[in-house]
This record gives sequence, structure tokens and C-alpha cells, in this order.
Amino acid sequence: MPEAIAAVKDAAHFSPIQRKPRFLSEQPSPHFLCFRPVKGRIRVPGDKSISHRSIMFGALAVGETRVTGLLEGEDVMATAAAMRAMGATIEKQDEEWRIHGVGVGGLLQPQSALDMGNSGTSTRLLMGLLAGHPISASFVGDASLSKRPMGRVIDPLSQMGASFTSSPGGTLPLMMEGANPAIPISYRLPVASAQVKSAVLLAGLNTPGITTVIEPVLTRDHSERMLRGFGAVLEVGEEAGERIIRIHGEADLRPQVIEVPGDPSSAAFFMVAASIIPGSELLIENVGLNPTRAGLVTVLRQMGANITEQNARDVGGEPVADLLVKHAPLKGIDVDPALAPSMIDEFPVLFVAAALAEGRTVTRGLDELRVKESDRIAVMAAALTAAGVRVEETEDGLIIDGTGGEHLRGSKRAIATHLDHRIAMSMAVAGLASKAGVQIDDTAPIRTSFPTFETLLDGLVG
Ligand code: S3P
Repeated sequence: MPEAIAAVKDAAHFSPIQRKPRFLSEQPSPHFLCFRPVKGRIRVPGDKSISHRSIMFGALAVGETRVTGLLEGEDVMATAAAMRAMGATIEKQDEEWRIHGVGVGGLLQPQSALDMGNSGTSTRLLMGLLAGHPISASFVGDASLSKRPMGRVIDPLSQMGASFTSSPGGTLPLMMEGANPAIPISYRLPVASAQVKSAVLLAGLNTPGITTVIEPVLTRDHSERMLRGFGAVLEVGEEAGERIIRIHGEADLRPQVIEVPGDPSSAAFFMVAASIIPGSELLIENVGLNPTRAGLVTVLRQMGANITEQNARDVGGEPVADLLVKHAPLKGIDVDPALAPSMIDEFPVLFVAAALAEGRTVTRGLDELRVKESDRIAVMAAALTAAGVRVEETEDGLIIDGTGGEHLRGSKRAIATHLDHRIAMSMAVAGLASKAGVQIDDTAPIRTSFPTFETLLDGLVG
């Protein structure tokens, strides 16, 4: 390992982000009681993707951006700490976050390593932002993030003139130096990734000329929507079935007032819980239903779920509705791989729904799940097997034979969640539908995206 990288690793020990040891066994808690109906009305916290971008774009606008509904999870707070370290002022007053930005091109040299915690979105988007600024920075993260591939952003950002020294395999800790000026490129995404798309677009913000991203497969489009809202000149078109996004460089961003809608990826746990547990009837208010994020609703409905949208409206340029979810018997299906990008974070909990469905559910084309906070194909295969589910792991998905509505056996031995918040929450939902409940090794990672998850669940099942 290069000496500088070792130094960066040491710097992580002085990080302002404190984490509890992750090896403690968690005690079974009362909400893992079998088939207690999920009833009532809830609101899930703000969308994680939109929250990250609100802070980043606000920090690049000149003037005060005000944000309500921001997700106050550890991942978003890692983004906020990094933007503060580069000159932005970010504070909460009452229920509102106020961000005073430095202007595109105005980011300051951070004085210590940027600790990204568990957050791939913070890391990859900030690498993009920094690539167009004449500053250098070191990125560190936890054990999960330090295994995740950064080559996918290093490649295009290097073409734009930034330089990188990463740990073996293109991972964190890494150091980078932004380009001054960066070179505009045209980049076709080799993987369907909104993080890679966004990294290139953010690098393009301070790059003279037009930076182009070609997206063969549509991914979440929050960056495009929000950058436009902040006043960037951005054109989105289609050629030969591919999406072409052009951003005009040396942009001026104008501060905005943002209301962050509820996160569909957090609502997902409750949609599945209410669908699989008899007697459930749950209203989930204010859920973001951007079509690039709403794949789980489509798939659950194909399986027979009873989900109705009420009070459809627009919040901050994003479609939003309240979702009424009632228990319904689910049937196994072949999940269309084309829907994967629009529900990429929802597969762990979809696997739980499949475990309770009647018949076989087949998922394919999910290679990207192997490089999330954990290898979500392997980890969910092991977790569900431990809870008594019949599951077969394939190269790019899972095949699950459901119980047809019968409860699962559950697991009294702690299931390994591998620092992955969505595995922990998915297995909590599996616990609700298990005779013996489910124990997991560590609930702490839930705080990265959904700090109120356990309280909400406890409130619903009493
Ligand atoms: C995100 C994009 C997705 C998603 C992640 C958030 C974003 O990652 O899994 O949780 O905010 O852009 P990929 O771009 O790696 O698919």
C-alpha cells in the first residue's frame, strides 16, 4: 500500500463521525413477533438520493438554499461534513436546513481526509464534484465502503483530467487531485449507475464546454431534475434508444427552496410488511414515486399486492403520493430484469416478499447487487436460508420458492448483515413473518439511511 494511503487510513481514526463497534449481538426485540398486523399511518424520512444532492448543489450555489424533509441519516451527514470541510455553511434551524454555498469553482481545499462512512453515493458524487476543482482530497470509509469499486468513476474522471491514487482494486482509501481546467468528455455509461452518471455531470459543472453522458439504460434522474432546478443549463434527449444528457460547463447555480419527498426505498420495507402480514392496512404518506424509482410498486402489484395511490401530487419537481397498502396473497413471478434499475435498492426486501409468495419467484440481471453495501445476492441467500426459506443463488439473481403465505421458521442465531442497512431492515421484515422471529448481528447500519426505522416499526406493531 502506498505510504500516503496508509496515512489516510490513520487519519480515519480521528474522524468526526463516530461509529459503535459493529460486532455486538442484538437482542430479539418485541417487534419480531409473528404475524402481528401492520396497521396505521406513517411517514418515512426524506429521500436519501435527493437529500445528498440538496446539500451538494446548495453548497455550490451562491446564496442560501433552504431544505425541509432532509434525511438526517449518517450517509447524508457524511456529505454535509464533507461540504463543510470545503467551505459551505450548513446548519439546521428548527425544521429547516440552511446551506450557504461557495459557488461552482469555489470549493476550498479540505484540511483532512473526507470520511464517507458507509456511503457510496457521497463518495462517488463528491469525487465527481472535486474532479472539476483545483483541489486535492483523500477519501476514507468504513469496511463495507472500502471494498466497493471506485474504478467506475475513476475512469471517466481521469479522462477529464483528474488524477487518482487508490487502494488495490480501485477502492478506498484513495487520494485525488482535481483538474484545472477539466476537459469536457462524452461518456457512455458501461454500467447502469446513477452515481457514475451524476459524478460525470458534477465534474462537468465546472468544466468549460459541454460534458455529455450517454445512458443506454435509464437510471434515477434526480441529478438532472435538480441541477435544472438550480439553474444549470442541461439538455436531455434521446438518440437510438439511448438517453443523452448534456451539461453546459462553468455553470452558475442559484439557491433553491427544497422540500424532500419521502424515500420510496425506505417505504419499501413497510410496503412489503403490510403486503405479507394478514390483517395489515397501512397508509404510507408522502412517498416519492419518480418513475425511475418506482419499480417495486410495479413488481409487487404484478405479484398481487394491494397498493393504491392517493392524493397524487408534485413535491419539489418530483411525483409524490400517499400509498395505501393492504395485505394480499402474493404469487411468485419472473421479475423483468429491465425493471432492475428502477428498484435497485429494493431487491433485498422484494426477496422477503417472494419468500411469503405462493410459488417461485425468479430474479435475473442483478449483477450490480453484488457491489452494493454488501453482496446482496449472496448475503440475502444466506440470510433467508438461515430463516428457513428455500432459495437458490444464481450468478445474477435469486430463485425463491415461497411459502404461499405460511410464516417462515425464523432464526434464533444472529444473521450476518455485513454492515448493510438494507439487509438489516429486510430481515426485520422477515422477522415479522417468522414463527421464531429473526435475530440480526447488528442494527447500527440502519442509521445510515433510516434512523427512525425501529421506532416506526415498534409503533405499528405495538
Ligand atoms: C444512488 C444510486 C444507486 C443506488 C444508491 C443511490 C444515487 O447506486 O443504489 O443507493 O443516489 O445516485 P448506483 O448508481 O451504484 O446504482
